[in-house]
Amino acid sequence: MAAPTFTSLIPATSPVEADPLVAGLEWRHPPTVERPYTIANFVCSVDGRAAFNGRSGAFSDEGDRALFHALRERADAVLAGTTTLRMERYGRVIPDPERRARRLAAGRPAEPLAVTISRSGVVPLEAPLFGEPEARVLIFAAHAPDLSGVAASVAVEPLRGDGPATLRAAMATLHRDHGIDTLLCEGGPTVFGALVRAGLIDELFLTLSPRLTGGDSGPAITAGRPLSELQPLAIRGLLSRGDSLYLRYAVTN
Ligand SMILES: NC(=O)c1ccc[n+]([C@@H]2O[C@H](COP(=O)([O-])OP(=O)(O)OC[C@H]3O[C@@H](n4cnc5c(N)ncnc54)[C@H](OP(=O)(O)O)[C@@H]3O)[C@@H](O)[C@H]2O)c1
Repeated sequence: MAAPTFTSLIPATSPVEADPLVAGLEWRHPPTVERPYTIANFVCSVDGRAAFNGRSGAFSDEGDRALFHALRERADAVLAGTTTLRMERYGRVIPDPERRARRLAAGRPAEPLAVTISRSGVVPLEAPLFGEPEARVLIFAAHAPDLSGVAASVAVEPLRGDGPATLRAAMATLHRDHGIDTLLCEGGPTVFGALVRAGLIDELFLTLSPRLTGGDSGPAITAGRPLSELQPLAIRGLLSRGDSLYLRYAVTN
């Protein structure tokens, strides 16, 4: 099947495909920052909801999926909250053998490290990801889960305390001890909200799906305590395809 083509409105260029576009993006890695460069990727309805009937799939389309997989191919690690792992039934991070081969040819692990975080230690080990022998998973948890019967290679890092300092320490561990330079955060809203509050997000990719959910059908893309001041964003890219818009924002300091 041919790769979907986008119209690039910002910057205004000729039509683009997701893989070459994402492969050519420059991530800004401030050399003094002791954490991964962190990109979030979400899809939401025009009324700002991140889920409908408990899942995000109804908002997605071919363009969103193309960007989703292109971003995963570039990432060193992919972070998702435990509820997202369970509700979205996470499987292996890069299912496409061609993408895995491209990463191996570039001297990188075949797949990004899958990362999750939990205070309770209740991790959805029934998600297909944990049954995948080739998957590498890192769990930050205050209480280590019982990993018997899990096929994936799973490591556990202790999570001490709560709040922004704990998250900053976890991100430093990812960078320093696990060699993660680029982290892709796929949500959910609770994890993303906590990372935003801790000042740990550098960019946001957001697919605006041409749909309304009506009412209070699910969370916004951030959840938890609101910020004390608004967080400004700067637009870095805008693609369109059909009725969908695909935004790229930098989080400005
Ligand atoms: N539209 C999209 O792009 C998109 C993307 C992802 C998810 N979603 C949707 O969002 C929903 C799930 O999101 P959610 O916000 O409910 O859950 P979530 O963020 O996926 O996971 C929440 C859990 O992660 C752990 N956690 C979160 N913040 C933490 C922190 N600061 N420190 C330690 N652990 C932390 C907690 O586990 P413990 O309770 O064990 O501490 C918490 O219960 C689903 O409906 C999913 O479909 C949509």
